[in-house]
Amino acid sequence: MISIEEMRQSVKGEILIGVPMSEHTSFKIGGNADFVIKPIDKDDAIATARYFQKKNQPFIVLGKGSNVLVSDYGLRLPVVFFEEALSKYEINGRNVYAEAGVDLQRLSVATFKHNLSGMEMLAGIPGSLGGALLMNAGAYGQEIYDTLNWVEIVGGGEKRKLKKKEIKIKYRETEFKDEVLIAAEFSLNKLDDKSYEFQKKVREENLTKRRESQPLSMPNAGCIFKNVIIDDEIVSAGRLIDQCGLKGLKVGQAMVSEKHANFIVNLGKAKADDVVKLIRTIKAKVKAQHQVSLALEIKMMGFEDLNIQNLTG
Ligand code: EPU
Repeated sequence: MISIEEMRQSVKGEILIGVPMSEHTSFKIGGNADFVIKPIDKDDAIATARYFQKKNQPFIVLGKGSNVLVSDYGLRLPVVFFEEALSKYEINGRNVYAEAGVDLQRLSVATFKHNLSGMEMLAGIPGSLGGALLMNAGAYGQEIYDTLNWVEIVGGGEKRKLKKKEIKIKYRETEFKDEVLIAAEFSLNKLDDKSYEFQKKVREENLTKRRESQPLSMPNAGCIFKNVIIDDEIVSAGRLIDQCGLKGLKVGQAMVSEKHANFIVNLGKAKADDVVKLIRTIKAKVKAQHQVSLALEIKMMGFEDLNIQNLTG
């Protein structure tokens, strides 16, 4: 049992009851979270993570809610919003310190303005640095781990600093499961004027390409599935879905985007249940046509008790 009075002794931030997750996810989908904690600063964020971990109480950390599907029945586990508590970054020469709640887009723009290279291609990825580090986010050949020095995490109730070589990283995957990301440091590369102008052009082209090829103006959760590695080559899940003719397929108010088939868009009042049905159909069609099992890139939250067949395989 979670006791708010007891929590108050360890955690300083606001504790809210019954918070609609549709207002806190980019998909604009999801029932109420029973309770939400908003730590006030970095120390409070660390104290909150340690409090739950020491009690062996599972909890959910949400940054921008940009890569998640929350069930229509909401969340029974406590939800911690770190965005405000972990929002600082500092650029010192080539070194960049940033906390997990920092918006990735903001960090990408700021580092590039300092003539630093290493994060400029991540500009269009929605979400916070913490989320990006947890899933080894990347775009246009750059990955967030490429330039990392260390991360600060809370795991097993203790704060720890891990160097890059101590962390196992795979394509869109890391070893972190129950750990909470707090902050990270990167060493970026200094760009001379000529390379800066070149990178600026590439970056603008990529942003334009993304705007043209992704449904950024409609509520969505980014790419639904991971791309697939076949014979050491990365194959676009979007392309595989597109080849099955699924663009525009609707269940309720959820639709496979007409622009990019690896996006599902919320046409207004989509339910998580509609999205789950679409995911099942897409997986089945891609399996039948391409003999490929698509794995989810988004995180499903609040589905544990709903007897939903495993969608991740
Ligand atoms: N394509 C199609 N039909 C589609 C979508 C794509 O034919 O509906 C084709 C494109 O024409 C292109 C190829 O597939 O030839 C690759 O498409 P794209 O450049 O859009 O890249 P992607 O592999 O589909 C990945 C990331 C995106 C990221 C883009 C750009 C994953 C799962 N997807 O998509 O990330 O924005 O590259 O770097 O890694 C996300 O992480 O949320 C996400 C959307």
